[in-house]
Amino acid sequence: MTEDIRKIGVLGCGLMGSGIAEVCARQGFATVVREVDDALLERGMSRIRSSLEKAQSRGKISEADAAQTLARMIATTDVADLAGCDLVIEAVTENKDVKAQIYRDVENVVGAQTILASNTSSLCITELAATTSRPDRFVGLHFFNPVPVMKLVEVIRGLTTTADTFARAHRFCLTLGKEPVAAADRAGFIVNRLLVPYLLDAIRAHEEGAGSIADIDRAMTLGCGYPMGPFTLLDFVGLDTTYWIANIMFDEFREARFAPPALLKRMVLAGKLGRKSGSGFYEYPAK
Ligand code: 3HC
Repeated sequence: MTEDIRKIGVLGCGLMGSGIAEVCARQGFATVVREVDDALLERGMSRIRSSLEKAQSRGKISEADAAQTLARMIATTDVADLAGCDLVIEAVTENKDVKAQIYRDVENVVGAQTILASNTSSLCITELAATTSRPDRFVGLHFFNPVPVMKLVEVIRGLTTTADTFARAHRFCLTLGKEPVAAADRAGFIVNRLLVPYLLDAIRAHEEGAGSIADIDRAMTLGCGYPMGPFTLLDFVGLDTTYWIANIMFDEFREARFAPPALLKRMVLAGKLGRKSGSGFYEYPAK
């Protein structure tokens, strides 16, 4: 635990929020995780329980550690339960207005020193910070999926983030057992700025006849040692998420390499979103 950050709030218990809450509680932090309704909260908590079971079955944590992790967590639908949190990490839907509203609700219950962080994958940190009354104590903390496994966190300093806030957020990531890197407040930060054009290019390469989906995936896993080929990764990240991030980067940089291919747009419009919808570049039969 860092000297000044002891209690963490996590807003949203979706794929990212549940992973962030799990790693915070696993590292010994009292963790309050908040969702908008009981059904979404239960879905998120059951994801956390499954992940802890998997970590246990892989020998990563003991049964006692898993039980203590859950005991350190408070799952709630009430923002008031975030009172007393030193750091609140927001991982709600990628919508500026929704985020601004939740920051207002949180600021009504937390203290003046509390740091607000956003796990946004591509929205502007400076703009999000400006919707709060503490733009100096606002920072980007971008985690990667699956959060319990991926070591990286991008720490993003907006134009108004103070050096002290950045340093405290950076130290917090080290305490979590993660490897923080400093990323500039530019759309896509570091990873998505490089990853997304590669994923978009894979779609274009396939459409231009470079190879089948399966062969392009096999080529990039076996030829480059990547853990997943681009189409498996697209389905894993979500085609809607990729499309969303690509559009934001295209808006910012106006460069063709960030423009989403027509096929990606149509797959999203058709509801083919990847693993989460059961269908994307591959099919995922319901278990
Ligand atoms: N808790 C702790 N550790 C766990 C765990 C859990 N719940 N589940 C698995 N692990 C560990 C395993 O024990 C194993 O550790 P080891 O290497 O020491 O034995 C390791 O994690 C790998 O686990 P598995 O064997 O179950 O899984 P795979 O080997 O099939 O790998 C994967 C799965 C980690 C998802 C791998 O395929 C991968 O790295 N894929 C790429 C993921 C990626 O690129 N993510 C980033 C997406 S981009 C993003 O998130 C940004 C956003 O803005 C879009």
